[in-house]
Amino acid sequence: MSEGVTESAFVIDDRETPRFRVHRSALVESDILEQERRLIFDRSWLFVGHESELNEPHDFRTRRVGGRPIIFTRHTDGTVQVFLNSCPHRGMAIETRPEGTGRFLKCFYHGWSFNTEGTLVALPDEDSYGPDFDRHNLCLARPPKVSSYRGFVFLSWTEDIEDLEQYLGGACDIIDLFADQSDVGMRVIGGTHLYAIRANWKLLSENSYDGYHAMTTHHRYLAMLKESGKDLSKVFAKGTGPNLGWDLGNGHAVIGGADGTGGTNTGLGRDLSTEAALQAQVTRRDHFAAKYGEHWANRMFSGRNLVLFPNLALVDLIMGITIRTYYPVSPDYMEVTAWSLQPGDDDPELQHMRQENFLTFWGPAGLATPDDIEALERCQQGFAAYELAPWNDISRGMVRNRPNFADELQMRTFWREWDRRMTGTVHPPEVPITPRAGRVNWPYQPPSDPHRVGEPA
Ligand code: FES
Ligand SMILES: [Fe+2]
Repeated sequence: MSEGVTESAFVIDDRETPRFRVHRSALVESDILEQERRLIFDRSWLFVGHESELNEPHDFRTRRVGGRPIIFTRHTDGTVQVFLNSCPHRGMAIETRPEGTGRFLKCFYHGWSFNTEGTLVALPDEDSYGPDFDRHNLCLARPPKVSSYRGFVFLSWTEDIEDLEQYLGGACDIIDLFADQSDVGMRVIGGTHLYAIRANWKLLSENSYDGYHAMTTHHRYLAMLKESGKDLSKVFAKGTGPNLGWDLGNGHAVIGGADGTGGTNTGLGRDLSTEAALQAQVTRRDHFAAKYGEHWANRMFSGRNLVLFPNLALVDLIMGITIRTYYPVSPDYMEVTAWSLQPGDDDPELQHMRQENFLTFWGPAGLATPDDIEALERCQQGFAAYELAPWNDISRGMVRNRPNFADELQMRTFWREWDRRMTGTVHPPEVPITPRAGRVNWPYQPPSDPHRVGEPA
């Protein structure tokens, strides 16, 4: 191995040429997926849901997180609780509805009932268990760790993990940029998108912040925007502060969207179509500029694609925010769940437009998602030849001092963490990791590297 090259069986990270390659077996083979379940999904903070999904006490949602069924409830005292959706009696998944409200969760098999704190409160023929029977030993089991940050609830399937905020690192600031967009709290509004993609789950991590593919894969969508009179020049202005890629540490990375300083630029979303909506958006931006300062408001209104390692994407296109998580069923098949996140106190017209964007852009039959699915599935089809064509190339922008949103720094960040977890290979960060800084002046200025081209932004 020459100096400046770190490599494993899966990742060759060559800083000299420079070139970054990923072996396609990592996207195809079943034993890799089994290791990923153990070394990645069972040792990461995984997204459960947003607190706003549980409006009132006794609301519940059920879902699978990291391959295991859970119930996510709000208890009588207002606290958010997460349990395994598995009856302590003989294992039945207690609640099968995706969402609902109920003071008690009752198992359909033998009728054991639990409250929304997971305590066994009633069972038929309790006397048959004898005088020493203690219901408290038969509560619903909980994941080893549950924690939340700014309304985003996560769990860990291992006790042995750093605190959530430490794990999120520099991504805390980026989550703040989402969470700060409302004085009353952000809310998941409307239904849930559920769909599947015949592709490896890591391709969706890559795709969720892939600025390079937009022009080609989404050509028709962009043509439609242009046709409607939208000026795309700002959206694709490379190398300006909001349009760079950032390594946030621990495998998390973000790319910025459009320059939203004016408050009216809708990034890749359709332009606001009415004067009232435009004005409402400018008012919102000015309000947050007064509250948090100009630079933070400019960042808030610039959009961004964040991927939290391993499987959570938060994408803000200004005219809509989506939360998206995904999990592999097999190496070539993943299930995707997505929600729309909105300011709880939004102007009704803006809310309507965001909701429409969520459906018509990100929906499973929207203007963007089917194109992405097609691209990912065809990559997976191509991987069938991986023994003869074994390497993916993810080198774009490695020569640049500050890789931009259309480069591939963010994917390399993902793969370096993936490789560290899977093989123990430590690849040093390519650009300085952007630490958590809070609402300070921005952009963060990384030191210049003489081996790279261009000035730091
Ligand atoms: S399995 Fe739930 S009550 Fe028996
Ligand atoms: Fe896309």
